[in-house]
Amino acid sequence: MHHDPAPRGMIRALGGNGPHEGYMPGFGNDFETEALPGALPQGQNSPQKCAYGLYAEQLSGSAFTKPHPERTWCYRIRPSVKHTTRFTRIDVPLWKSAPHVLPEVTSLGQYRWDPVPHADEPLTWITGMRTVTTAGDVNTQAGMAAHIYLVTESMRDEYFYSADGELLVVPQEGRLRFCTELGIIDLEPKEIAVLPRGLVYRVEVLEGPARGFVCENYGVPFAPPARGPIGANCLANPRDFKTPVAAFEDRDAPSRVVLKWCGQFHETPIGHSPLDVVAWHGNYAPYKYDLRTYSPVGAILFDHPDPSIFTVLTAPSGLEGTANIDFVLFRERWMVAEHSFRPPWYHKNVMSELMGNIYGIYDAKPKGFVPGGMSLHNCMLPHGPDRNAFEGASNGELKPEKLEETMSFMFETRFPQHLTEWAAKSAPMQDDYIDCWDSLEKKFDGTPGVK
Ligand SMILES: [Fe+2]
Repeated sequence: MHHDPAPRGMIRALGGNGPHEGYMPGFGNDFETEALPGALPQGQNSPQKCAYGLYAEQLSGSAFTKPHPERTWCYRIRPSVKHTTRFTRIDVPLWKSAPHVLPEVTSLGQYRWDPVPHADEPLTWITGMRTVTTAGDVNTQAGMAAHIYLVTESMRDEYFYSADGELLVVPQEGRLRFCTELGIIDLEPKEIAVLPRGLVYRVEVLEGPARGFVCENYGVPFAPPARGPIGANCLANPRDFKTPVAAFEDRDAPSRVVLKWCGQFHETPIGHSPLDVVAWHGNYAPYKYDLRTYSPVGAILFDHPDPSIFTVLTAPSGLEGTANIDFVLFRERWMVAEHSFRPPWYHKNVMSELMGNIYGIYDAKPKGFVPGGMSLHNCMLPHGPDRNAFEGASNGELKPEKLEETMSFMFETRFPQHLTEWAAKSAPMQDDYIDCWDSLEKKFDGTPGVK
C-alpha cells in the first residue's frame, strides 16, 4: 500500500552538504541550517530581535555543565510554550515504562517470538507501539524499554514528543517519514534513526504497513563507542550519520500534541503545527544511519571476539565501560577463523540481551529466529547455538566463508529486562524455544581425544 508522502507544505532548506539531499553528514557536529535565507543569526545565539520575527529558543538535551553539552538553538515561528496548553491524561495501554514488574508475569527464562502480525485496526506511531520489555527506572533516567511498532496510519494534525528518553528506531518492514521540529527523516529497513528526548515530531507512513523495533533509551544519548586500538576508521564511521536540514510548516489547524512524561501520556490541544523551526544550529538533533555502511571488524586468525566488537552506538551509564544500552549489529561478514568454533559461543551474561532479526538467517539459530522475530536472553541466563548450529560449526570445513543475507541486532543493557503482559501473553511467543538445546548431546566419556 503506497501513501501520499504528504509533506503538506513543509518548507525545507535547500540541499545538504554532499550527495544526500536533505541531510548533513557527521555525528554530533555543530550543525547549522536554515530553511529561509538569513533566518539563522550569525555570531550570536540570542539577538535582540531575530530575522523574520522568529523567536530564539534553546533545546537542552544535557545538563548545561556536561563536559560536552548537547544543545540546539532554534529560531521558530512561535516559542514552544505556545505548543502546549493544559494537559489531559490519556491512556496508551500497550506502551509501558520501567519500573513495570508484574507479579503474574515471569521474566526469568529464555524467550523467543515470531514476528508480531499486523492488526486489523488502523494504528499510528502512538497507538501502534507495543512494549516488549522494560529495564531500569524512567524516573531516574536509567535503563530502557524495547518496543515493537505496527503502523498503518499517518498522524494527522497530531504530534508527539517524549520527555522520557530518545527513541532508536529499527525498521523491519515499510517506510516511515519523521517530520520533526529540526527536519525530515525518511526511514526504511536497513536504516536506523534516533529521535532525541524532547523533540516534537509527526510520523507519516510512506509505504505500509510498517513494522519495526524501538529502543527507548532513558539514559544519556547514544553515541558511537570509544574506538580504542581499532583506531579512527571502520565500525560506524561518523560521516555516515545523517542529520536533516531545517524544515518547517506554517499551518494553522486544530491539532493535538501527545507528551510522554515519566511513563504517563497526556494530550494538549493547540491551534497550529508545532513544527515551526525555520533555522537552527547545534549538536542535539535527530539523525539516521544506513546499517549497510557499517564496517565490521572481527577475527582474522582464530577465535571469536566478544559481540561488543559489533557495537554501532552505545549509551553509557555512570559505570565506566558498562553501557546503559549497546546497539549491536550482526550483518554480512566473512568468517575466516582457523581451528575455531565460529558462531557465537555458549554464554551467560550479567548484561541482558534482546535481539531482533531485520532480515535473513542468524548463524547461531538457523531456524526459528526469523525476520521480524526477536529473542530475549536475560541477566545471567545461559544461551548459545542450538544443536544444528553447534554440529554444523563443529564439523564443517573451515574454509573462508561469507555469511550472506543476514542482519540482526541486539539491545544489550546492564539492567534485567522485565516482560510486559503483552509480551508474555499476547505476542506470538514460541513456547518451545527453551527446547532448542534439548538435543545437545553429552559427548564426554572420560577418554581423551576430540569427539
Ligand atoms: Fe550472549
